[in-house]
Amino acid sequence: MLDAESKGALKERRVLVTGGAGFIGSEVVRQLYELEADVTVLDNFSSGKMDYIKKFHDVKVVEGDVCDYEVVSKTLEDQELVVHLAALPFIPDCYHHPDEFFRVNAMGTVNMVWESIRSETIERFVHVSSSEVYGTARYVPMDEEHPTRPNSTYAVSKLAADRAVFAMHKEHGFPAVIVRPFNSYGPNVTQPYIIPEITLQLLSANDRIRLGNVESSRDFTYVTDTAQGIIVALTSKNAVGETINLGSGREIKIRDLIFLMAGFLEKQVKIERDPTRVRPYDVERLLCDYTKARDILKWEPKVSLEEGLRKTIEWMMKHPVGFKGPFKGWYQSYYGRA
Ligand SMILES: NC(=O)c1ccc[n+]([C@@H]2O[C@H](COP(=O)([O-])OP(=O)(O)OC[C@H]3O[C@@H](n4cnc5c(N)ncnc54)[C@H](O)[C@@H]3O)[C@@H](O)[C@H]2O)c1
Repeated sequence: MLDAESKGALKERRVLVTGGAGFIGSEVVRQLYELEADVTVLDNFSSGKMDYIKKFHDVKVVEGDVCDYEVVSKTLEDQELVVHLAALPFIPDCYHHPDEFFRVNAMGTVNMVWESIRSETIERFVHVSSSEVYGTARYVPMDEEHPTRPNSTYAVSKLAADRAVFAMHKEHGFPAVIVRPFNSYGPNVTQPYIIPEITLQLLSANDRIRLGNVESSRDFTYVTDTAQGIIVALTSKNAVGETINLGSGREIKIRDLIFLMAGFLEKQVKIERDPTRVRPYDVERLLCDYTKARDILKWEPKVSLEEGLRKTIEWMMKHPVGFKGPFKGWYQSYYGRA
């Protein structure tokens, strides 16, 4: 949690947020803005949306690629703190573009860290990794010692980035923290993740929900909680060099999630298996042990799944979303979106 000291510690601090126009990034930016930090966003808007951050008038926006040395080194000039979120995060896209996922997620991260080290001004670098680095649960709940057996090239690229940040922290005494969020959900949707996907299908006239594997289970964290964990890691005293899970500690099967969400809309639905949506080599189960986050960051999730889902559905009813991006994942053929 942000105590009074941490709140003060961020006031007028210069914070660079990569991927700040994205789903989690825009919530990180919103919270930093409220803490009166001096925020700069670096984003190439491949999935991020200017609409999500333009209301924060003092936030500076640099349109650019985290893989571009010149843009990154120039943007880092005089920054003090970095939150690195920019990545290609939507797993079905990585089946078609594994090279691009490695370029952005792994090399983009190495570039961000290396240029941060070279800038000599960065006092803390929070790298946003992912629970996907673990692969499917070998035991539950999953702590940070859980083996890393990633199940997709997305997850492998995130693991490469995660361990590169750690190695560069050790090699150069670079003050980095690695956080591993479990699945996040909430407003400012950018990707057809499972909760936006179910919501869109529920909001359509259809009473059939067509999905791939609905027997798998996930641990969902509301985005305000995820963002708060990331922000606390910017100032928390004992976090440097640590790898820390952020999750809710509650798992739910996708099947049960669908019925829970349908209940909020008072809809009777039938689930149909769509073989074109089955993710090959999918993660079957994720459940977070966030003891370390509680001990080191004094962080705990505050928003229940029920409350968070209601807020997400409400937001999506008011904000029609389209998904952009250069890729041709399965969702585009399904929706016919360009
Ligand atoms: N959403 C989740 O459930 C979840 C869970 C665990 C980890 N993460 C991680 O959190 C981060 C943010 O994910 P998100 O869900 O908000 O996705 P997102 O797609 O909304 O955010 C990614 C942002 O990065 C930007 N971006 C992409 N490539 C870029 C590049 N080359 N240069 C500059 N900017 C670029 C996009 O435009 C977007 O604004 C990612 O690193 C992701 O791996 C997300």
